[in-house]
Amino acid sequence: MAGPILVFDSGVGGLSVVAALRERLPQAALAYACDNAMLPYGPRQDAWLVRRILAVCEAAVAASGCVALVVACNTASTLALDALRERLGVPVVGTVPAIKPAAAASRSRHIGLLATSATVARPYTLRLIEAFAADCSVRRVAADPLVREAERRLAGERPDAGVIEAALAPLWDDPDLDTVVLGCTHFPLLRDALAACVSRAVTWVDSSDAIARRTAQVAADVAPANGPGASLATAPDMALGAVLARFGFAAPDLLMLD
Ligand code: DGL
Repeated sequence: MAGPILVFDSGVGGLSVVAALRERLPQAALAYACDNAMLPYGPRQDAWLVRRILAVCEAAVAASGCVALVVACNTASTLALDALRERLGVPVVGTVPAIKPAAAASRSRHIGLLATSATVARPYTLRLIEAFAADCSVRRVAADPLVREAERRLAGERPDAGVIEAALAPLWDDPDLDTVVLGCTHFPLLRDALAACVSRAVTWVDSSDAIARRTAQVAADVAPANGPGASLATAPDMALGAVLARFGFAAPDLLMLD
């Protein structure tokens, strides 16, 4: 049966992927689910996180009747993709740091990875670097405070330039760095604010277009878009409803977990 494509993140970061999906699949119905009760995921312990991601995604897939799940969260994907694919009966598209395109774009062969503390340390991420950027110097920088800045920004607040500068500072210890991977889906939502805090020419790379391309390949029987898409959240939040409305989603229903 036809259904929407479900996009999942801990918070509003997945909306950066929604934007790319709407460009590539303008006719497709999308639904959105976020685990706002447990945001942020970055500092959380792996074993707990796997159980939580499985529980939330399983419930959200059932509630939405989706034909495919896009895990629009690097922190979740680098940890739980295999477990999700084993557990769920729909195709699962993951979001992992865009190391390969960044290595292709870098002239200096010095690249930065800006992501959550979990993602920068994950074996999955280290394997990506080994496979696609073995000839590059890769500076991995944990930037968890930017998740909150992105959430604040979408809620209508001005991002704090001091927080952004402090988060980016470790990147600039490498004077040759010319390309930065935005390895957290929250960060493209701050792209102009990030660029405004940088005084050198840097190419910012993220995975959203690649995810949208991949989703278009795997999502069969997608329902046509027909009014605002459904959304699900794990905690009530009025402000979240207003943000989701701007991205074409109805106010969130509360997702019930066992
Ligand atoms: N948006 C997420 C990511 O891509 C997670 C942010 C968080 O919850 O820490 O990693």
